[in-house]
Amino acid sequence: MKRGKTTQLRAVIGIGNYKGGVGKTTTTLNLATALHKQGYRVMLIDMDRQANLSSCTDWNPDLEVQHYPTIYNVLCEDAPIPVYKSASGLYYCPSTSIMNKVDQQLPTMRNPAMKMTRALQKAPDDHTGEGLTEWLTDFDYILIDSPVGPQVLVDNILIAVNAVLIPINLEGFAMSGLQNYLAYIQEIRETENKDLINLGFLVTRRKAYIKGQQEAEEQLKKRYGKMVLPISISEREAVSRSQREFVSVYDIARADVPREEFTLLANEIIKRTKNLI
Ligand SMILES: Nc1ncnc2c1ncn2[C@@H]1O[C@H](COP(=O)(O)OP(=O)(O)O)[C@@H](O)[C@H]1O
Ligand SMILES: [Mg+2]
Repeated sequence: MKRGKTTQLRAVIGIGNYKGGVGKTTTTLNLATALHKQGYRVMLIDMDRQANLSSCTDWNPDLEVQHYPTIYNVLCEDAPIPVYKSASGLYYCPSTSIMNKVDQQLPTMRNPAMKMTRALQKAPDDHTGEGLTEWLTDFDYILIDSPVGPQVLVDNILIAVNAVLIPINLEGFAMSGLQNYLAYIQEIRETENKDLINLGFLVTRRKAYIKGQQEAEEQLKKRYGKMVLPISISEREAVSRSQREFVSVYDIARADVPREEFTLLANEIIKRTKNLI
């Protein structure tokens, strides 16, 4: 947790995969909360038009009607990144349903895939009342929740971040998109973002009691070795309940919540990003 005078961003992590429903948003929120609980300064950026992550902050879509800016203004109007602060202590930039226009609007602009990279280098639009000045470089972790598409958003994220974390499921076809995503990461590395780090695959919604899943996990480990994180997230009703209640697993009062798994995940991510923060 350096607070030096550097203009370098610290850990900017995209949580991504071409598959929906694998736990990207759940991982983003709970990893962020776990990191925050350890004293890190964490910012969430929601890039998904479904805005599920934004629902888990204290963002109220009515604010958008009152012209409070969102990620849409950043991408399509070159606005600085708006920063809000949740009562939970997490900083965030919300998404909005009008993000469904970006796949038509962005490609008509100059350098459409560079919008996030540029925005991350600009001074913020501070809505926290804290007078954030150094804010972007002062955040230890900026976590970007990735949509499965359109591709121009995936590009924006993979070019802007310095690391990716890839949640995966062990369900039948869930693995099939992984190869494409990895190939694409490699392509981005060879072109716009040569230092892009893959922090690894996080098995989520793990059902260890299903034999097919055990086999799939073994195969995954055989093929990718240490790239498969030593921590996985179990499938638990309490996790989906926390999402339905728009809170993290740390904020739901139930005994069967796998908080410990997210805490261990945060420790592993801290280890794997120690050169960045
Ligand atoms: N560990 C888990 N146990 C049970 N349900 C989960 C778990 N992780 C995610 N879910 C549920 O699965 C669904 C998809 O998760 P989500 O994080 O939204 O995936 P994505 O962002 O990849 O589309 C949500 O309804 C969520 O509540
Ligand atoms: Mg999601």
